[in-house]
Amino acid sequence: MTTRTVQPSSPASELKSKIEKREARVGVIGMGYVGLPLALLYTEQDLRVTGFDIDQRKVDTLNSGGSYIYRITKEEIGAARAKGLSATSDYSQISEMDAIIICVPTPLNEYHEPDLSYITNTGHAIAPHLRAGQLVVLESTTYPGTTEEVLVPILEKENKSGLKAARAGNSSDQGFYVAFSPEREDPGNTSVARRDIPKVVGGLDPQASELAATLYGQIFRRIVRVSSPAAAEMTKLLENIYRCVNIALVNELKMLSLRMGIDIWEVIDAASTKPFGFQPFYPGPGLGGHCIPVDPFYLSWKAKEWDFRTRFIELAGEINIGMPYHVISSVVGALNQRKKSLNGSKVLVLGVAYKRDIDDLRESPALTIIELLQKEGAQVSYHDPYFPTIGRGRKYDLQMKCASLEDLGKYDCVLIVTDHSDYDYPKIVREAQLVVDTRNATKGIQSEKVVRC
Ligand SMILES: NC(=O)c1ccc[n+]([C@@H]2O[C@H](COP(=O)([O-])OP(=O)(O)OC[C@H]3O[C@@H](n4cnc5c(N)ncnc54)[C@H](O)[C@@H]3O)[C@@H](O)[C@H]2O)c1
Repeated sequence: MTTRTVQPSSPASELKSKIEKREARVGVIGMGYVGLPLALLYTEQDLRVTGFDIDQRKVDTLNSGGSYIYRITKEEIGAARAKGLSATSDYSQISEMDAIIICVPTPLNEYHEPDLSYITNTGHAIAPHLRAGQLVVLESTTYPGTTEEVLVPILEKENKSGLKAARAGNSSDQGFYVAFSPEREDPGNTSVARRDIPKVVGGLDPQASELAATLYGQIFRRIVRVSSPAAAEMTKLLENIYRCVNIALVNELKMLSLRMGIDIWEVIDAASTKPFGFQPFYPGPGLGGHCIPVDPFYLSWKAKEWDFRTRFIELAGEINIGMPYHVISSVVGALNQRKKSLNGSKVLVLGVAYKRDIDDLRESPALTIIELLQKEGAQVSYHDPYFPTIGRGRKYDLQMKCASLEDLGKYDCVLIVTDHSDYDYPKIVREAQLVVDTRNATKGIQSEKVVRC
């Protein structure tokens, strides 16, 4: 496998052999939800990792053996540190790395356009420290073309030795190697071990693909190679757009089913018994997380450059963005049935994480729902075992404290937004005056107090 794409005694073959012998040093840039677990996987396999982050608090926490991600324990960090994990905000250490993996955020700006500033800033920061023979892999989700059109030009222009990225037909020894490999983690999903999720890689040239495949082959069981960084970038977007469009479809069918008096959850369960051709997706209060609400718009933005409108993405966005508003009108309707108005009512929002059993608030529909409820004059409280407080985020500033679950009867409405598995739903229904359930968390509980929406 080695010899066809990587020439013997070339810088690429040296790096490949260093990786295989676990002597390569790996730099992970961005020690967040993606970068930190990745760094731990490498240290478990005895590769020495340096984590780079501009957030000094994260750097200090890791270097003192702590963790800032709920599902990663201090013990895991301690074990990784014993195997050489360290963190730094000092980019000059990039020159000591053999492989550099970039896992920085790719959000949308206020106009719903891609914000690549984290990637470009990273490019500007690492370029002066690049040296020949290094492998640079971008993992951040982004539109096809980012690696080649945005990252590589910065690295080539701003390195101090005039190094060029190795491309097909230009594989001089005085270059560096570049690939894209999307992150596919599903936070909170314990059914598939991370190393069993196949890893897609697309290099700028065959050597870069080979090196990236070797690097990821140390921690993932299966590597899937595609022909270019753009194909790898597009693969990730296809996966997320597929989810986004299908979630929009069930959200729309849920709203119709509610009108028709049909239980959509029962229907999805029944349809899921089909042994082929159907994959279940579930309706909810709106999309959340760093990926599904954001990534499809990276492609629809890029498509405009090609005079192309991605109508499925736009339509799915329209339906999914409307879901928090549907939740509000369901709460209004349920209160109205009890001769109450939302204005002045006490509402407890149960669960604010963007999905069950995780400590991630990013783009959570709960935040929009809380803001909409407040705008309508409701007195809003929340409870979430993962968030003692909600402070300031990129788009919100709620400054709220987690309420207690005692005395649920004092609320006019308990609104289930995130169905954490620790909640005792029969007890919640028993004690509450009214429960509006956006997740079918109260499945099987027969009570007039429950309104499913
Ligand atoms: N979280 C997920 O489940 C998930 C899944 C698949 C893909 N992704 C993608 O992976 C990428 C990273 O996501 P995440 O969830 O880890 O984000 P995150 O916000 O948890 O972590 C990103 C980290 O990068 C750091 N950072 C920002 N700019 C930096 C710079 N110039 N130099 C060094 N560090 C910098 C931040 O301080 C932060 O610690 C995004 O593109 C995201 O779309 C995330």
